[in-house]
Amino acid sequence: MTAEPSAGEVGALVKTPRRPLDIEILTLFPAMLQAPLAESIPGRVQARRLATIHVHDLRHWGLGRHKSVDDYTYGGGAGMVLRPEPVAAALDEIRRPDSLVVLLDPGGEVFRQARAHDLAERPHLVFICPRYEGVDERIRSLVDLELSIGDYVLSGGEIAALVVVDAVLRLLPGAIDAESTAEESFTAGLLEYPQYTRPPVFREMPVPAVLTSGHHEAVRKWRLKESLRRTRRRRPDLLENRPMTREEAKLLGEVSHEESGAALEAAQERAVQTDAPAEPSTD
Ligand SMILES: C[S@@+](CC[C@H](N)C(=O)[O-])C[C@H]1O[C@@H](n2cnc3c(N)ncnc32)[C@H](O)[C@@H]1O
Repeated sequence: MTAEPSAGEVGALVKTPRRPLDIEILTLFPAMLQAPLAESIPGRVQARRLATIHVHDLRHWGLGRHKSVDDYTYGGGAGMVLRPEPVAAALDEIRRPDSLVVLLDPGGEVFRQARAHDLAERPHLVFICPRYEGVDERIRSLVDLELSIGDYVLSGGEIAALVVVDAVLRLLPGAIDAESTAEESFTAGLLEYPQYTRPPVFREMPVPAVLTSGHHEAVRKWRLKESLRRTRRRRPDLLENRPMTREEAKLLGEVSHEESGAALEAAQERAVQTDAPAEPSTD
């Protein structure tokens, strides 16, 4: 029989419920964000009151009769630039002492999983989604962080904001099964291991026997090793400065050994076919 937990232990078990994460998005195209944020995990997260999301039309703070938000660039050049006043006026209304204001910009910090975890801990996020040729430089002085979702240019910040918001929402406690986020790609600094479902054999490709063996420890070890193998093959940069446990270092050593053996075998195979001396490929 298990002993009843003491009052202190009960206190430790009952976690203080977290305040919802409040997200505000400033855009000229609210409809681009509303539908995707109402579906699937983002929709569920809001229904469970883990987060609130408000999409604001930046034109509400536009200037003059036409609610203008953009203008020509000083010095000449193609396209229009987002003016600072509408953004400043919107932030004056929306910003709280605990806000983090984020500008989506191709020149910003490249968005990674570690930043997603950081944003998921914040109480209030404000995203600014520019359009046109970009923003008046002075808008940068109004924000706390600039984020890019990669080295390419989109037509506007909306899709970039959706990417960031989606990555953050799924990390909120209660959004999805905690085990899923603990083990998936990048969380432990590695790519995720290969996953299989039914059927047991598909086009002569069987599911690895260890996964149906019922040996939890063997499955754990196989997954860690395959995670290391995939990361080494596809994203060796992730391994460069990553501290390793003794077990990981051992498994990675095994992977390197197996892979160089396989490379030598493939080279020998090619040499037999072409009669050339066997030289393993370097990849
Ligand atoms: C056409 S882009 C402007 C590009 C700008 N002229 C430049 O060369 O950096 C318009 C807006 O889309 C958004 N955007 C474009 N690419 C992005 C990226 N890779 N990450 C985040 N936002 C991006 C930014 O908000 C940007 O201000």
